[in-house]
Amino acid sequence: MIVDRQGRRFRNLRVSLTAACNYACTYCVPDGKRLVAAQDELSAQALVRGVAYLVEAAGVERLRITGGEPLLSPRLDAFVQGVAGLGLSDISLTTNGQLLARKLPLLRDAGIRRLNVSLDTFDPTAFRRIARGGDLATVLAGMEQARAAGMAIKVNMVPMRGQNLDQVLPLLEYCLERGYELRFIELMRMGHLARDGAAFLQQFVSLEQLLGLIGQRHVFEQAPRPLDATALRYSIPGKGHFGVIANESVPFCRTCSRLRLSSTGWLHGCLSSGSRHYVADLLDKPRHQALPGLQRLLVKALADKQEVAFSGDVMVMKVIGG
Ligand code: 5AD
Repeated sequence: MIVDRQGRRFRNLRVSLTAACNYACTYCVPDGKRLVAAQDELSAQALVRGVAYLVEAAGVERLRITGGEPLLSPRLDAFVQGVAGLGLSDISLTTNGQLLARKLPLLRDAGIRRLNVSLDTFDPTAFRRIARGGDLATVLAGMEQARAAGMAIKVNMVPMRGQNLDQVLPLLEYCLERGYELRFIELMRMGHLARDGAAFLQQFVSLEQLLGLIGQRHVFEQAPRPLDATALRYSIPGKGHFGVIANESVPFCRTCSRLRLSSTGWLHGCLSSGSRHYVADLLDKPRHQALPGLQRLLVKALADKQEVAFSGDVMVMKVIGG
C-alpha cells in the first residue's frame, strides 16, 4: 500500500472512458465546440486491466466511471461487464443523463446502483445556454427511470452567478421531492477559468452565499459524512439531504483519496496538478511485469497531491471527468 506523510492513499479510482461529450458546458468548453474522442483511447480490455492492476498496486476499493460522457463510449458495455467481476466494494457512474434510459439495463446488470447526474438548471433556455447540447426533458425522464429501476441518484449542480442562481431553490425542491440528493459543486478554477481569474470570480458562488440562499427557505443542519468525502452534507429535517463540494471555501486536499485514469492511459494523482503519468504501455503487460512499474508511478502520482487546497489547473474535466 502506498501512503503519504498525511496518511493519504488511493482508495477511490475514477476512470474516464472517453473524452467525447454531447454537451459543451460553459465552464468546461470555452469555445462551445463539440468534444470528440481522443485518437488514442484505450480498449475496454486495457482499461479493465488498468482497474484490476490498480486494485492490487494501490489498494483501490471503489470505482467511478466518468468521461467526457461515459455513456457515449463504444467501450462502455465491455468495460462495465469487465469491472463487475473485480470485487470492488462500489461502482458508480457520472453522466449527463442523455443516454441513461437506454443504458440502464446494462448498468443494473453490472451491479451499478449509484449514479451522479449533472444538471445545472431546470429552465430550458438556461439549459441550452449552459450545456449547449442535449435536451432537458430527456435528462429528467432518464433520472425518473433510473429511480424506478432502484438506482440511488445524486444530482450535480454548479451554481454560477448570472447563470443559474435562480435555480438553486427550485432544483433543491425537485430533488427533495423525489429523493435525489442534490450536490452543489463550487465552481473550480479549471481550464480557461484557471487562466482567467476575472471570469472565475464573476461567476463564483461560495458555500456561505449558497447556504444563505438555501436558508431563506429551509432549516438545515450539518450531517455526518465519511472521513474522505469531498462533499459537506446537510440534512433538512423531515425532507432529505443536500451536499456541497466546497473546493474553495472548505478545501479537502488533506483527506483526498482519489486517483484518476484517463481514457488514453494517463494517471492523475491530483486534479489541481499539471503532472500526469503514462501507464498505457504497462497495461498491455502481464500483471507481474506491470505491477512494479505501476507502483513507482503511483508514488509519484501521490506526491502530486496538494498539501491543503485546490489551486487550479489548466486541465479540464472533459479530459479527466469529475
Ligand atoms: N467547476 C465545477 N464543476 C465542474 N464540473 C466540470 N467542470 C467544472 C468546474 N470547472 C462538474 C460537472 C459535472 C462534474 C463531473 O464536474 O458539472 O457534474
